[in-house]
Amino acid sequence: MHRPRVLSGVQPTGHLHLGNYLGAIRHWVAGQQERENFFCVVDLHAMTVPYNPAELAQNTYTVAALYLACGLDPQYSVIFIQSHVPAHSQLTWLLNCITPLNWLERMIQFKEKALKQGEDVGVGLLDYPVLMAADILLYQADLVPVGEDQKQHLELTRDIAQRFNYLFASPENPILKLPQPLIPTTGARVMSLTDGTSKMSKSDPSDMSRINLTDPPDLIQKKIKRCKTDPIRGLEFDNPQRPECHNLLTLYQLLSDKDKATVAAEVQDMGWGEFKPLLAEVIIEHLRPIQTKYAELMNAQDYLRQVLREGRERAHQIAQATLAQVQKAMGIAPLL
Ligand code: TYM
Repeated sequence: MHRPRVLSGVQPTGHLHLGNYLGAIRHWVAGQQERENFFCVVDLHAMTVPYNPAELAQNTYTVAALYLACGLDPQYSVIFIQSHVPAHSQLTWLLNCITPLNWLERMIQFKEKALKQGEDVGVGLLDYPVLMAADILLYQADLVPVGEDQKQHLELTRDIAQRFNYLFASPENPILKLPQPLIPTTGARVMSLTDGTSKMSKSDPSDMSRINLTDPPDLIQKKIKRCKTDPIRGLEFDNPQRPECHNLLTLYQLLSDKDKATVAAEVQDMGWGEFKPLLAEVIIEHLRPIQTKYAELMNAQDYLRQVLREGRERAHQIAQATLAQVQKAMGIAPLL
């Protein structure tokens, strides 16, 4: 039976938050038994904006441990660190040489992040989507489960693959597979706790804007207590005038595993004073087993290292096979 192959990753920029979990990781876990899975911690991507080298390696292991704590199982999923498989950097260079500059200049995330950095913006930030394309194309992935914000990068990945196949392969025998994005219908864009119109993000300077997967219960209570709401009584989904309300109800719905109609009926007459403690409780209870597992893993680093070593070997094998095909097609001289 053909199992669709999946690849995805998260940047080790600080800890993971509920957006990463509900937009991506939760769906990796849910589908892992029916698919062939590759999940990497994309440390090379985390270097495209200013970062602290003293923290990068530790954050990389932290994110890998959180993958396992959230339920990824090495029996079904290959888990590895992007920089440990050199083919990612090597394919990026080759794809750079066929990617038109203006495709990259159009990327929304580049424009947003570049604005924040002014004159300091590095070439790596512009080139980031090509590295992401290499991550995906090396594994000939069928599906890429991500949040809404990565959709444009997935379209670019398909464009790059198509251009490569057109230039260096034939329509009957394409070398690179065109992947499909897999974006959840609910939770694909979790919003900030301090502004319901902007996305929950690791780079927001205020930690009060997000719930990290490792936040202790009292901090979660504090963040929910202080999060932005509105003065209207009665809570509802889908009112464009009430983005915070929609976002908080969606978090409640997803983390309590109830359907939308049930939640809508439950909260329609509530005020914030009644709803907020319920929401905080649901988040705390959902994260409790993840945090327990995470603490265990951080105390058993040998196991984590072994998982990452085995993951690297398997990933390297697959990635190397694609890289060799691309190198040959592009005319790189074989080793003598
Ligand atoms: P990153 O590290 O910003 O985010 C990791 C995953 O979390 C999703 N996500 C969200 N989903 C819902 N609501 C939010 N507020 C939210 N914030 C983040 C992202 O969509 C993503 O799925 N470029 C990628 C990492 C990457 C990658 C790849 C992904 C590198 N190579 C190859 C897939 C395949 C990124 O920066 O994700």
